Amino acid sequence: MLFEGVCGVSVLSVNLAENGYDIVIEHGALVSLGNRCREVGLKGVAAVISNPTVSALYGAEVKKSLVTAGFSVVLIDIPDGEEFKNSTTLNRLYDDLLAAGVDRGSFIVALGGGVVGDVAGYAAATWMRGIPFVQVPTTLLAQVDSSVGGKTGIDHPKGKNLIGAFYQPRLVLIDINTLTTLDRRQFRAGLAEVIKYGVVIDRPFFEFVESNCAAILEMKPDVLIDIILRSCHIKAQVVEMDEKEAGLRAILNYGHTLGHAFETLSGYQCLVHGEAVAIGMVLASRISVAKGICSRDDAARICALISRCGLPVDIPPYDRQQLLNTVAADKKSKSGSITFICNKGIGMYAMSQHTSEELLRLSGLEA
Ligand code: NAD
Ligand code: GLY
Repeated sequence: MLFEGVCGVSVLSVNLAENGYDIVIEHGALVSLGNRCREVGLKGVAAVISNPTVSALYGAEVKKSLVTAGFSVVLIDIPDGEEFKNSTTLNRLYDDLLAAGVDRGSFIVALGGGVVGDVAGYAAATWMRGIPFVQVPTTLLAQVDSSVGGKTGIDHPKGKNLIGAFYQPRLVLIDINTLTTLDRRQFRAGLAEVIKYGVVIDRPFFEFVESNCAAILEMKPDVLIDIILRSCHIKAQVVEMDEKEAGLRAILNYGHTLGHAFETLSGYQCLVHGEAVAIGMVLASRISVAKGICSRDDAARICALISRCGLPVDIPPYDRQQLLNTVAADKKSKSGSITFICNKGIGMYAMSQHTSEELLRLSGLEA
């Protein structure tokens, strides 16, 4: 992995045989989007997929950069919200791509948070059997997690991300300035994925977030760049070792199995994704205590950091049977057995197989 810092630009390389790409992190990076697309060899029509919230803020700047670099540009909005990350939105998007003449010589730019990135990426993976795409993530969650690694997809009414493809972008361009318009709740939600990396892989990073929590919440630029770089670095390393989640990559699902279930049951209304992951991490650390691989003190420390970051730690009301059914429908479930990620103390992971009933019992949800 290459790690450079030139004139305030940081570039990480994700090394994946023929699917490798750079992650460029910079204040004001949007201006350079067009030239960077040229540099990676993209051609034809640039179809910028966004949503009304993000395109109103950044659509014009993105279009200008692409047009200046000589691309023809079409802007396509999908509706804003996880509840629209579905096949209806995708089919309308295909209609729009067709109407705009987006062909095999064109490419897609995903401009937005994780929802836009996942849907636009999946459209890129499937449109005319696959056209190139670029990720321009504008939420903290997308900048530290979803834009890197090539997981794309949509939700099914029975569960999150059940339909999708591994499809790597050609470039990830992170403009940290876009975080200034993000609302505080969404910013905090992104911190859940940052804490996740520390808990399962990198204890010093967990401690860094603990020590710098106030500065992070104040969005101090240096510390922001630091957490985004370190998160992308960790994620890229995991993806390089296991691009298609044959094994190791599953550790990045820490907090997601139970988190996804609460997110699905909330109808994507009460909890945003990062908040659901926060609750899932609290439960995963409880399960780790019950399995004897994490001390109560470490679990309390994880819970305290989640809470200091302004994320929820209380378990929402739920219906037992619905929760069991939703956990069982998770795509990590095979023949009733779920690969569950625990934390060994802070900074290490453990994988084990459990039924949904066992997970509920071990997490204390059935006490
Ligand atoms: P999101 O995409 O819904 O964005 C949150 C909100 O912020 C939206 O209303 C959006 O319009 C708004 N927004 C985005 N950028 C903004 C900006 N700069 N200024 C103002 N408002 C802005 O939510 P998210 O948390 O970014 O992503 C969650 C999604 O990511 C989930 O669907 C989750 O499944 C997915 N995800 C995917 C991966 C992956 O590897 N592909 C990893 C983690 C999460
Ligand atoms: N967010 C989990 C992964 O990308 O694998």
